[in-house]
Amino acid sequence: MRGNKKYSHVIDTPDPGKWELAGYEASLPITEKSNPITREIDKADPTQIVQLLKDCDAEIFQEEDEALVNYKRLYSDLVLKTMMDIIGKVQEVLKEPDSTLIVLSGGGASGRLAFLMAVSFNKLLKGLGQPPQYTYIIAGGDRSLVASHEGPEDSALLGIADLNKVCEGKKKVIFFGISCGLSAPYVAGQLDFCMNNLDIFVPVLVGFNPVSMARNERIEDFHSTFRQVAERMEKLQESHKAFVLNPAVGPEGITGSSRMKGGSATKVLLETLLLTAHKTVSKDSEISEKCLLEILRTYERAHKVTYSQSKKIAALVKQAGTSLQKKAYVYMVGWHTLGIIAIMDGAECIPTFGADINDVRGFLIGDHSEMFNREADLIAQGPKFAFSEEDFVKTILPSLTELDTVLFLFTVDDDLVEVEKLAVQVKERTSNMQALCHATVGQYLPASLKKLFPSIISIMWPILFLEYEGNFIQRFQRELSTKWILNTVSTGAHVLKGKILRNYMVDMKVSNSKLFGRAVSMLQRFTGHSQAKCLEVLLQVIYDPEPLSEEIRAAEVSKHIAVATDKTKVVPTALLCLLRSCSVQEARSRLDAATSLRGALDAALSAPGRKRGASKSDPEENST
Ligand code: F6P
Repeated sequence: MRGNKKYSHVIDTPDPGKWELAGYEASLPITEKSNPITREIDKADPTQIVQLLKDCDAEIFQEEDEALVNYKRLYSDLVLKTMMDIIGKVQEVLKEPDSTLIVLSGGGASGRLAFLMAVSFNKLLKGLGQPPQYTYIIAGGDRSLVASHEGPEDSALLGIADLNKVCEGKKKVIFFGISCGLSAPYVAGQLDFCMNNLDIFVPVLVGFNPVSMARNERIEDFHSTFRQVAERMEKLQESHKAFVLNPAVGPEGITGSSRMKGGSATKVLLETLLLTAHKTVSKDSEISEKCLLEILRTYERAHKVTYSQSKKIAALVKQAGTSLQKKAYVYMVGWHTLGIIAIMDGAECIPTFGADINDVRGFLIGDHSEMFNREADLIAQGPKFAFSEEDFVKTILPSLTELDTVLFLFTVDDDLVEVEKLAVQVKERTSNMQALCHATVGQYLPASLKKLFPSIISIMWPILFLEYEGNFIQRFQRELSTKWILNTVSTGAHVLKGKILRNYMVDMKVSNSKLFGRAVSMLQRFTGHSQAKCLEVLLQVIYDPEPLSEEIRAAEVSKHIAVATDKTKVVPTALLCLLRSCSVQEARSRLDAATSLRGALDAALSAPGRKRGASKSDPEENST
């Protein structure tokens, strides 16, 4: 542990990781690097999985080390200063509620977090007797909140159109464009539009790579790359017209899975910033670094409190893993915003692990009126968009079996009679019930509810003495804690099912351009083949049984994605073709016959004749 940390930390933040060294996977941005901590997570048992992901999450709070490459971190002066500058802008808007708006936007997990935070801060305003001032935008609209829908993230023009719609008639707008990887074209378009209309917009880019590592690929329907947009933002930051909030939080535990640390850090950063803005406006006080640090430390405390339950979390990982291994399901029913966290977690398993819709699925219990922009897009729209208590009771409950796991997520302040009622119904179908319950010291669960669950992860939070924002900090801590646990459980369960190779999401869906690029890079890394060869084989698998023509090869990536999105096991099949020099058909049959995908791939990686070390640490080192 380094001796002279600048701030007194709540948790022992780790020493800088190897990933911070200049040469480590140099061609990849931080958010796409593989984390050295989890290199062997695919072979870990549940207890080890929890420990590894806990260590990865702790990196969020690690301070910058000047002796190394010197990435900006959460506690860096520059980051805190940028936060204070943005708070100043948010204050101006909060003081002028007429014709102003705070917009949070993103794709996938980032859009879902935008939704969650907009809901929270409008609730905070409502509590103060004020009208809503926040709104959210998610690529693909409200349906993307509850279902996996990655394609719309690729369109910059769609992003601009969606932004225009929500901002109609507004005179001042603070726009938070969230893209953890500094990569989503949807967000790039919106930021660019804001910069062209600075009389109305104050754009803020939120992500976790330095601008120099922002994605630099051509965007099909746009004139600039994400990096060019981010560079323009950085320039405008000098005159406080735009801001880039981009501390490094380290690579994800599962390579590229920005729903995990990226999502958590987004929540920590933006909630801290917005809460401070509200606090200083309502108390008419100065913005201070002390205030920011006070709130940031509560999130560090949440890490400590959450992972003090590691043993029970590991037991839950094991149980969820067993359900998935037996081809059964893991359902999570959460009260209020904990339900939103559950839905988020389930939806993200689909692109990340190539999971089926029900493999891990969340439901929101409680009132959801006034939450959505267009509720009609979700209600009674069929099983894919089911998300409510009514949906759970009508469609899932009757089909539950002993093999399924049901996880209840609630706080002691929720309606416990309602919790008990649903728990009794579930218990009639499966005994694999678990609960994650948040309480404040001194609060207890009624015995009748307790005895329904064979095991309860009971998180006991200390009493907070921070005035005004206390309630919301408590709520935010509980949400983040739930997010950490669910991310760990769903990731761990898929690791146990054999969906991860080393620390790579090898069975992900190839459903947008970022994921397409990640697929090629993954193939290069594991096979040592050139980029051209990996691309060729990936296309063969995507278009199989149609042979590759010159026309297909020359087509835009969006065409490949449209074909690949609904296909399964695309990357594992391509990987096996490359490793075994076999046909697509043979690779598919081998995968279909295998009990575990990882097992099949691992066997091919260590097959006699394959040179050890053929997997390169840096895909671009051998690109054509
Ligand atoms: O759509 C794929 C995905 O990688 C999701 O997993 C992620 O939540 C989303 O893109 C957004 O990523 P980013 O925040 O980097 O734009």
